[in-house]
Amino acid sequence: MKNQLLYSGKAKDIYSTDREGVILAQYKDQATALNGVKKEQVAGKGRLNNQISSLIFQHLNEAGIATHFIEQLSETEQLNQEVSIIPLEVVLRNYTAGSFSKRFGLKEGIKLKQPILEFYYKNDDLDDPFINDEHVAFLDLATADELAFLKAETLRINEVLQALFADIGLTLIDYKLEFGRTKEGQIILADEVSPDTCRLWDAAGNHMDKDVFRRGLGDLTDVYQVVLAKLEDKFKK
Ligand code: TMP
Repeated sequence: MKNQLLYSGKAKDIYSTDREGVILAQYKDQATALNGVKKEQVAGKGRLNNQISSLIFQHLNEAGIATHFIEQLSETEQLNQEVSIIPLEVVLRNYTAGSFSKRFGLKEGIKLKQPILEFYYKNDDLDDPFINDEHVAFLDLATADELAFLKAETLRINEVLQALFADIGLTLIDYKLEFGRTKEGQIILADEVSPDTCRLWDAAGNHMDKDVFRRGLGDLTDVYQVVLAKLEDKFKK
């Protein structure tokens, strides 16, 4: 099934498969922060993120969101539709936190009047800079119609994800999405949705996400395991 290594990322390795247009994502036990400056092996992280992201993408597919997710293959592997990733990190914020709090000098956890969407240029050499619609057009990263679709789809996904996490007692503070183009030119949700790419707070305000690692607050696998258990319980896996 697993053929040639196509791409090795910070959190996943991507392999070709025998199936046309299908790739295999192998989740790794590597945790990184600050664009790879802080890097550690964390046993169990790959399994947890693969399982969490698989459950979330399955739910998004069932909610009518077009995604690359096909099926979970093993504890650390999943099959995805092959896409060409649009080099944009689409960040959606429901509450102040992280770089937003830092930029505007605001404490974390203030509910925003309406969700705020931001684009970052996915480029490690440049440290993923913040960019606006006109920069996207100048750099030819997406057309105006595609940008409008990315924004509308991200807000639609926000409704589904906020409800899902509220159901398991977690507040979706913010998150990052990546989209890709299929061979036919359709834009679908790709990459992963996991505590690596979302900020999730429990009712007591505890960080149930990668901020535990970024800020040295505790054991990453302990909190990811809690998130997985809550999702498994919801979907009665
Ligand atoms: P930020 O507050 O650091 O800009 O992050 C916003 C959200 O995006 C947060 O949930 C973490 C996620 N994120 C990633 O998944 N990858 C990244 O490279 C960055 C910078 C943020």
